[in-house]
Amino acid sequence: MGFQRRARATTKTVLIIDDELSIRKSISMHLEDNFYKTLTAENGREGIEIFDREHPDLVLVDLRMPEVDGYEVIKYIHKKSPDIPIIVVSGVNSIETAIKTMKIGAWDFLTKPVTDHSILIHSIEKGFDHADLLFEKKKSDKKFNDLFNTVSDFLYSYDLNGYFLEVNQTFKNVIGYPDEILKGVDARKIMPKKIVPGFERSLKKILMEKQDQGKFQIRSVDGNVVFVEYHNILVFDSDGKPVFISGSARDVTLRELAEEEKKAAKKHAAEQDKKALVGQIAGKLAHDFNNILGAIMGRAQLSLLHSKDEKVIKSLQLIVEQSMRGKSLTQNLVAFAKNQEPRQETINVNKKINLVINLLERDLEGIKIKRTFTQSIPTLIADPGMVEHALVNIIQNAVHALSKTESPKIILKTYYFNDRIFIEVEDNGCGIPGEYFNDVYTPSFTLKGGKDISQSYKNDIKGTGYGLANVKNYVEKHKGKIFFESRVDKGTKFTLAFPLIKKELTGKEIKEVGKTTMHKEKNILLVEDEKAISDVQSRVLSRKPFNHKVEIASTGHTAIKMFHENKYDFISLDYLLPGGLNGMDVYNNIRETNKKVPILFVSGNIEFLESIEDLKKKDLNLDHLSKPCQNKDYVESINRLLNK
Ligand SMILES: Nc1ncnc2c1ncn2[C@@H]1O[C@H](COP(=O)(O)OP(=O)(O)OP(=O)(O)O)[C@@H](O)[C@H]1O
Ligand SMILES: [Mg+2]
Repeated sequence: MGFQRRARATTKTVLIIDDELSIRKSISMHLEDNFYKTLTAENGREGIEIFDREHPDLVLVDLRMPEVDGYEVIKYIHKKSPDIPIIVVSGVNSIETAIKTMKIGAWDFLTKPVTDHSILIHSIEKGFDHADLLFEKKKSDKKFNDLFNTVSDFLYSYDLNGYFLEVNQTFKNVIGYPDEILKGVDARKIMPKKIVPGFERSLKKILMEKQDQGKFQIRSVDGNVVFVEYHNILVFDSDGKPVFISGSARDVTLRELAEEEKKAAKKHAAEQDKKALVGQIAGKLAHDFNNILGAIMGRAQLSLLHSKDEKVIKSLQLIVEQSMRGKSLTQNLVAFAKNQEPRQETINVNKKINLVINLLERDLEGIKIKRTFTQSIPTLIADPGMVEHALVNIIQNAVHALSKTESPKIILKTYYFNDRIFIEVEDNGCGIPGEYFNDVYTPSFTLKGGKDISQSYKNDIKGTGYGLANVKNYVEKHKGKIFFESRVDKGTKFTLAFPLIKKELTGKEIKEVGKTTMHKEKNILLVEDEKAISDVQSRVLSRKPFNHKVEIASTGHTAIKMFHENKYDFISLDYLLPGGLNGMDVYNNIRETNKKVPILFVSGNIEFLESIEDLKKKDLNLDHLSKPCQNKDYVESINRLLNK
């Protein structure tokens, strides 16, 4: 016996279960001569008892014994400790018996009497060799499995047709499929449809080139797309036949998304640039063009006064009319391209509608006007010019739609509901054909003039198609909504809904705000040039439950001066300010000497909203809100910033 085997033997205990004392004795003696420790049991029941108590490393067992026989013992031990070698030492000498015992867990079968003890020793050593091997394999299997499942990369294998064979835990976690389902599943099922052809190409390529790498997309159970970088290789069997594909992949979703975001931001910025440029050009063009049109119109009108000839008069009238159209076109174009930030002033919508009706008095001749105004309507905070322009456009459209209606009627309605102010303009005119419902807000879409194939309008009615595009733009700048219902030859109802900026917080809002930590009695500098807004904001902040002390600055200069002369705990800062310095200038000035004081930008300006995102990453005491904002959002943002 070699040194290593001998060393191993000294650490092992063998349990001998046999009902014949002489056999127990002789085997035991012999094993101890070979350095093993031994235990003995005289029947199956006792054998099991000792096994459970002493945990031997190997078991020798007879088959025919009283009480509990050898078969029972084998079954019991094998079930309990499948790695313990069991060797049958039996007087029954038949192949069937040997096979039967092997089937239930025995490792070897020796026949009695054991005359040559070296055979027994050899069998025991073989048993331990095997057990050691099994132990090592289990250890390395575990190591491999641990590694396979915990690495941060996806590891997987699939067959040559693209069906999964094995997938590590990391992959499963990301994909979200349970193991049983993923095994044998067609890999095509976990990728977006448009990616499948790419997968087929990769399969072909790998069979030819033995490997393939690149970028890929997979789809998780909940529908999210995961971007990966993969490397696949073809695996061969010992005959050199390709058997499966094994690979690893790395989740690069965050990187990809960041890149996509960057691209989108660039595109958006480019669009904004273009818009700004178009705006500038359109503005300049409109100015020159209006001058030219003015000259043409003036001359034509002058000539009209002196003309007597019917034909000439007709031509001159046409010139005046067409020049007017040109003017309205340029006006609308400029308004559309300009994309400016709305002012925020208090407006009584009922009064505003009355004003527009007066303006359009001549157009409205012969049309019955019905007003159902809610008299107690709250004041709207919005851009008066934009609201007026929107109303003119919509009422003008109604007037046009009524040009061929027998008893034309326009119903104007105002009401408020769910924190919104609604304005409805309803006519009983020609209506909008259903197939154009999606087009009416598209710039330059019109069904008037040359486009009036169904002859819905009187001949002299023309349109530029920018009216509703502008109205929608205005409404959305106020975070409002526009919608309509329409039926051909029955009429159309346009509804504008503007969010209401309330004068103070409601009881319910105060309760909700109170759920988080609330800051009170702070010194706040409110930089805001529009009185309607600073009124609301200062009222909300200085009343219960906050009781802040609020001071208002309406220009950048005053703001800077006040900041340096007083001590403030918080700055609420509008971006667009009159008089040379804007909000960003004020911010920069404050930060030169004070890095800590929390600053909340409030703005609706698009260029600003873009630049602020970067700034926020560098300055943790900075936040922003887009305008117009609700009181609750406003106070919550302030609380949040003060919490930092
Ligand atoms: N009240 C309405 N009744 C019927 N059709 C309408 C009504 N309002 C809008 N439309 C349809 O929507 C189209 C687009 O309206 P929009 O105000 O944008 O352009 P326009 O009136 O044709 O031209 P512009 O207003 O620029 O002079 C109109 O041409 C018309 O077909
Ligand atoms: Mg119009």
